[in-house]
Amino acid sequence: MSSETMASTTQFFVTLSVLALLACSSYAQLSPNFYATSCPNVQVIVRNAMRQAVNRELRIGASILRLFFHDCFVNGCDASILLDDTPTFTGEKNALPNQNSARGFGLIDTIKTNVEAACNATVSCADILALAARDGVVLLGGPSWAVPLGRRDARTASQSAANSQIPSPFASLSTLISMFAAKGLNARDMTALSGGHTIGQARCSTFRNRIYNETNIDPNFAARRRNGCPATGGDTNLAPLDIQTPNRFGNNYYQNLVARRGLLHSDQELFNGGSQDALVRSYSANDGAFSRDFAAAMVRMSNISPLTGTNGEIRRDCKRVN
Ligand code: HEM
Ligand SMILES: *[C@@H]1O[C@H](CO)[C@@H](O)[C@H](O)[C@H]1NC(C)=O
Ligand SMILES: *[C@@H]1O[C@H](CO)[C@@H](O)[C@H](O)[C@H]1NC(C)=O
Repeated sequence: MSSETMASTTQFFVTLSVLALLACSSYAQLSPNFYATSCPNVQVIVRNAMRQAVNRELRIGASILRLFFHDCFVNGCDASILLDDTPTFTGEKNALPNQNSARGFGLIDTIKTNVEAACNATVSCADILALAARDGVVLLGGPSWAVPLGRRDARTASQSAANSQIPSPFASLSTLISMFAAKGLNARDMTALSGGHTIGQARCSTFRNRIYNETNIDPNFAARRRNGCPATGGDTNLAPLDIQTPNRFGNNYYQNLVARRGLLHSDQELFNGGSQDALVRSYSANDGAFSRDFAAAMVRMSNISPLTGTNGEIRRDCKRVN
C-alpha cells in the first residue's frame, strides 16, 4: 500500500468513525421497535394498566404526563425521578417542583411489576414512563404517537438539577423559552408542550399571586378561582389547569389563554403580547394543528439525552438502583 493510499484509507476510517459517533451520540439508537422480539407485549401491558388506572381516576393520566416531563428535563429521560431518597442518597422526588406535587409513582411500580412478569429484566423504567405518558394522553382523548424506545435507567439523580432546570410557574416568557432551549426544544415546542396543561390540577400556592395580583386576567375567572384559593392558607387546595374540560385532552387550554383565563402565570405568559401570541391563537382555533405539534414535540422531548447501549441499567425496581 502506498503512503498516499494509506493516508486516504486512514482518512476514510476517521470520517467513518466520526459519522458513527455522531449517529450514536444522541437518540439514534432509540426505535419504536426496540422490544419487538425481546418483549413484544410491552405496549399492551402498559396500555391495559393505564386504562384501568384512568378509569379509576381520570387525573392520573395528567400526573403521569407531568412525571415524564420532570424526568426528561433533569439529565434526560432516564427514570431518575423515580428513585427514592435513602439515608445515603438524595434523589429528585423531594426537589421543589416535585415535593408534595409529583404523583403517579405507585402506578409506574404496578406497571413495572406487570412488565417484569412478562419479560424479566428487559424493559427500562424510563421506557415504561415514556409509554405510560403517551397512553395517558390517548386515554383522555388526545393524539397518539410512536414512542421511540431503548432508553436505559440512570444509576443517579440530581436534586439540584431538578430545582434549577424544571421551569417555575412564576417564570417569564423569555425564561421559559431559554429553559426549553437548554434542552434542545424551541419556542414552538415549548408552546405546544405547555398544552399538557389541558389536563390536570394545580395547587393554590402555584397560582395565588396570579389571581390576586395580576391584571391580564379575566376578572370573573379570577373571582371564581379566589373562591377556592384564599389569600392566606389553603395552599394545597386544587383547581383545574383547564377551566373548560379538565379531564379531556384538547386545545381548550389555548382558548383559555386567549380569554385571559390561564391559571398559572407561566401559562398566561404565552399570550401576553409576546412572540407566542400568534401560535396560541392558531392552536386555539385548530385542534388538529395543536395535536400534530404536541405529538411531534413529545417525541423530541422523549429523545432528550437517553442512556443507551451499555450505559445505565435496566432497573429491577423503579424506586432503587439494582
Ligand atoms: C412550560 C413550563 C411549565 C411550567 C412552569 C409548569 C408548571 C406546572 C405547575 C406549577 C403545575 C401544578 C403542580 C402542583 O400544584 O402540584 C403543573 C401541573 C401539570 N403540568 Fe406543568 N408546567 C410546565 C410545562 C409542562 C409540560 C411541558 C407538560 C407536559 C407535556 C406539563 C404537564 C403538566 C400536567 C399534566 C400537570 C397536572 C398534573 C396533575 O394533575 O397531577 N407541564 N405544571
Ligand atoms: C430475573 O432476572 C434477574 C436478573 O437477570 C435474575 O436474577 C432473576 O433470577 C430473574 N427472575 C426470574 C423470575 O426469572
Ligand atoms: C401581591 O403582591 C404583593 C406585592 O408583591 C405581595 O406582597 C402580596 O403577597 C401579593 N398577594 C398575594 C395574595 O399573592
